Amino acid sequence: MDTVRRIEWVLAEALAEVDHPGAPRSLAAALKHAVFPGGARIRPRLCLAVAMACGDDCAPLSNATAAAIELMHCASLVHDDLPCFDNADMRRGQPSVHKAFGERLAVLAGDALIVLAYQTLSADIHHRPERARPLLRGLSQAVGMPAGIVAGQAWESESIVDLRQYQRAKTGALFAAATSLGAASAGQSPEDWEALGNWLGEAYQVADDIRDVAADAAELGKPTGQDICHGRPSAVSTLGLSGALERFSELMAQALGSIPDCRGEKALRSLLRAESQRLIPSHMLSKPQASKQSGAQRELLSRSL
Ligand code: FPP
Ligand code: MG
Repeated sequence: MDTVRRIEWVLAEALAEVDHPGAPRSLAAALKHAVFPGGARIRPRLCLAVAMACGDDCAPLSNATAAAIELMHCASLVHDDLPCFDNADMRRGQPSVHKAFGERLAVLAGDALIVLAYQTLSADIHHRPERARPLLRGLSQAVGMPAGIVAGQAWESESIVDLRQYQRAKTGALFAAATSLGAASAGQSPEDWEALGNWLGEAYQVADDIRDVAADAAELGKPTGQDICHGRPSAVSTLGLSGALERFSELMAQALGSIPDCRGEKALRSLLRAESQRLIPSHMLSKPQASKQSGAQRELLSRSL
């Protein structure tokens, strides 16, 4: 089974668990809406790519790890879109969860997805119980306080913000979890893979800032111009568009240079190169070309988160 199918299959299995006849129907539907259709599933794909580069000796555990990371990401997007944060109406080309189901169910959907992430990981931990500690610890660190995505979001409520600390927590933490927990799920040292995730997280953040000004909302499947609208720091406002593009290339070079020695190094390297071109497609850089985009290209862009 290819990586994308593995991810969709394991997510569908996880969601089937909560879609129980005795469960509240609207919340079950809100959970499905938050997870399907997905974006590019970049974090779980990265997790599985690293697991495979490390030998992937326990596929059920690497699948569960990748799914747990994606479920945390989906939870964070549901909460991020709420009126008390970004107040976004669209996500992944469809109404955001609070627009489709109301705020109360959106809060609960985020909560339930966090728990589902742990349920999914713990269901397969018996295959390699000795890997439980690094996996659960790593997942919790990536999401909670003091430096996970929840902490990253909380920086937006502080009056003085260290930009690097904010971005590392809000975006980098889950990327670092994707690489380090991918390795841990295959029995390798998570620490050796953290740097790769940090570089990729930073590169991804810069790409996101570029798309926020250079793409249009229909292409992205979510509102653009959000950084200016919410007064958020961004690589484009600090470096300008061409400076941000340059920074993106530098960060990708750092990421590629930080891949530890492993059996699957070559395949991982080519996957990351392809991903980098997907994050900043060349047609986004010139408006005349952008207007000639095919439906397939638009679909690709809208799935890029
Ligand atoms: C998208 O950022 C949002 C995040 C990267 C993380 C948001 C985190 C929380 C809301 C904390 C709650 C966490 C959980 C696990 C429930 P963005 O607004 O810059 O990007 P966007 O344009 O895709 O919305
Ligand atoms: Mg947002």
